[in-house]
Amino acid sequence: MNPLNFYHLEQEPFSNAPVSRFYYDSHQNQMALVRVERVIKEMKGLAVLIGEIGAGKTTLARKLLDSLPEEEYEAALLVIIHSGITADWLLRRIAQQLGVEDPSPEKLRLLNQLYRRLLEIHESGRKAVVLIDEAQMLQTREIMEEFRGVLNLEIPEKKLITFVFFGLPDIEKNLKLDPPLLQRVAVKCRLNPLTEESTREYIHHRIRLAGGNKDIFDLDAISSIYRFSQGSPRLINTIADNALFEGALVQAKTINVDIIERVSKDLGLDGAYDPIEISISHDLNTQIEAQVQVAKPSAERAKEVTDEHNYLRDLDGDFDPEQMIDDIEDTSIK
Ligand SMILES: Nc1ncnc2c1ncn2[C@@H]1O[C@H](COP(=O)(O)OP(=O)(O)OP(=O)(O)O)[C@@H](O)[C@H]1O
Ligand SMILES: [Mg+2]
Repeated sequence: MNPLNFYHLEQEPFSNAPVSRFYYDSHQNQMALVRVERVIKEMKGLAVLIGEIGAGKTTLARKLLDSLPEEEYEAALLVIIHSGITADWLLRRIAQQLGVEDPSPEKLRLLNQLYRRLLEIHESGRKAVVLIDEAQMLQTREIMEEFRGVLNLEIPEKKLITFVFFGLPDIEKNLKLDPPLLQRVAVKCRLNPLTEESTREYIHHRIRLAGGNKDIFDLDAISSIYRFSQGSPRLINTIADNALFEGALVQAKTINVDIIERVSKDLGLDGAYDPIEISISHDLNTQIEAQVQVAKPSAERAKEVTDEHNYLRDLDGDFDPEQMIDDIEDTSIK
């Protein structure tokens, strides 16, 4: 029995794909966006947004990118998928994303090119902003110093670029590698797990957008989803998605706590998940020898990025990371 038919849904409500249509504008997301947007608008240097695994950081980064009008911002989102990247690679990437044509392999010349490009953006009345997702993977002092160097590209009384780091709380440890960069953090926000109440709103919101009746899950079932997911949106999706499938199999009109407990236990969740264990599997997922970058907002682009991501995740065995990076650059989204 297909859960979409059985529960009269027009589409999957709990897909873990980053679909902007399903965006849930929680109070804390709103607050985080307001704070980060202020740093971007006022060109205050560096903003940091941290959260545990699956808390919604990437979702928020995309939302922010989509909200920056192209006529006011030269904006780019850079996703780091490998902890071994070098400061030189990063600088070249940032320059490229901001529109430096033919970035020089020679450092001083590249900085000069970047400075000129930032001036150009400034003179056109726009603001340069680079969002960095999975920023906890930037782990060397050299890289942190590079960011500081770029932030120091200024004209009198005016900064020329803003960075926003999104990532796991480890970002803070990495920032400490360069205390002067740490001092340039203008705002730091944390995405906490959803509360029980926001978990309920989140579930209802997604079901409504998928065209379904919000009472598919009874209230005890939702409390149980909250307990097993600990308020992590990704886990809420996974549990609810499995529960819909199981519920349709046994033709349960309403999903109750028994179904939630069964699917959660099958997923290996015990209602008090161990963040350490999950962080290990997260690292495994991200130990992919490649780096992906994207620029500029658009739903289509977000989809392409996900496809690239999946493509990378699907790969195993022998492959040449440099070649793959070239491949990605060739198909790069502009
Ligand atoms: N505000 C939101 N509205 C709707 N769905 C969300 C929201 N936040 C998170 N999600 C859902 O949870 C999933 C995981 O979120 P996301 O990928 O943004 O988390 P993350 O913090 O970046 O995770 P990771 O630590 O693994 O990088 C998303 O694919 C999305 O389906
Ligand atoms: Mg993420």
